Amino acid sequence: MKVLIVGSGGREHAIAVSVAKSSQVDKIYCAPGNAGIARIAECVDITAMEFEKLADFAEKNEIGLTIIGMDDPLVGGIVDVFEKRGLRIFGPRKKAAIIEGSKAFSKDLMKKYGIPTAEYENFTNPEEALAYLETAKMPIVLKADGLALGKGVLICNTLEEAKAGVRTLMLDKQFGDAGNTIVIEEYMTGHEVSVLCYCDGTHIKPMTSAQDHKRAKDGDKGLNTGGMGTFSPTPFYTDEVKKFCEEKIYQPTMDAMKAEGRDFVGILFVGLMLTEAGPKVLEYNARFGDPEAQVVLPRMKNDVIEVMNACIDGTLDTVDLQFEDKAAVCVVLASDGYPEHYEKGKLITGWDHFDGMEDYYVFHAGTKQTKDGIVTNGGRVLGVTAKGADLKEARKKAYEAVKYINFENKYMRTDIGKELV
Ligand code: AMP
Ligand code: GLY
Repeated sequence: MKVLIVGSGGREHAIAVSVAKSSQVDKIYCAPGNAGIARIAECVDITAMEFEKLADFAEKNEIGLTIIGMDDPLVGGIVDVFEKRGLRIFGPRKKAAIIEGSKAFSKDLMKKYGIPTAEYENFTNPEEALAYLETAKMPIVLKADGLALGKGVLICNTLEEAKAGVRTLMLDKQFGDAGNTIVIEEYMTGHEVSVLCYCDGTHIKPMTSAQDHKRAKDGDKGLNTGGMGTFSPTPFYTDEVKKFCEEKIYQPTMDAMKAEGRDFVGILFVGLMLTEAGPKVLEYNARFGDPEAQVVLPRMKNDVIEVMNACIDGTLDTVDLQFEDKAAVCVVLASDGYPEHYEKGKLITGWDHFDGMEDYYVFHAGTKQTKDGIVTNGGRVLGVTAKGADLKEARKKAYEAVKYINFENKYMRTDIGKELV
């Protein structure tokens, strides 16, 4: 079978590596892809939002399955376009992807169906939002309703900061129309856990847990980023927490979406905060996490194509999801200055070291092939994942491995998984 993957980040590279292991697959295409993906797939020069062009390509090249890695095309309805043309595709339809596309929708869904989450109010009027803040408890969290590259969440410690935040989101429109509606939410504390789940509209199967490190700097300082590193599994996700989430969060979310006529097929990413009062949902995403995928997929034992097909066919209940006992740690190498200003086009060296080495993966994100070699082409440049017997060993291997890959403005966090070992 031929497979088309849509996206160009480390997540899509991790998906491609898993797909390449499937016995059912003999050719992989990726649109638009990156320099690393190009080593195992044929990259196609079509961007993720060109739905009809992508569908034309899938039709012409007899693609057996298209896999969508990114949020924008899912929220924009790429699955509906493919299905209308009779093309097989893995991901939620537009009316299900809204669970990520609108935070106000997802909060209202959780409230309606009693799924644990932070207390909140939605606002479309800035005056009302400002008035509400006057009596609210600080710190408080403001969230742009729509997609904002993971950057539309403001944690405000004082009333002044919160008021400025409302102005930034709703009046200055820093994230455009994403800020037309905002969610103002209770501030929660606890360990954060990401659980990615396969879903077939009725059944939901959670994968192994992971933890992201979203802030740019060590010690969780600095600005929020797309993610600077991950580890999997996280010891805070105990059997007791898992059981609670399965009973009170995962299945109830599937049932709620079905009851709303929005059956969810694809990957549901549940961002959890393990609070003193129990696990609560921070956010839902409608796709694999990035860089969560870079530690979860390398540990998955199943044939990913079989699992995705079971999701599309509604037979996920027959799948026995299995993960290796090994732990995995992913350290993101970024361009210094990310997520604000940074330079691109720096030559990257040291690839050869990893060729054929078991338990090491170099997942490309912002890279580009030039005639001189592979150069940096984004804020997050690549993710180096290592697997080990436990978190301590995986972490040691990942941090040894990152020494081999070099470019002029290389930047990374040095404390991924540190608090645990
Ligand atoms: P989100 O995109 O909703 O996951 O938010 C991004 C990050 O902001 C999360 O990973 C948390 O670290 C933080 N965050 C979001 N909502 C809250 C909240 N209610 N309380 C505390 N931190 C939050
Ligand atoms: N790593 C967080 C996300 O993919 O949204």
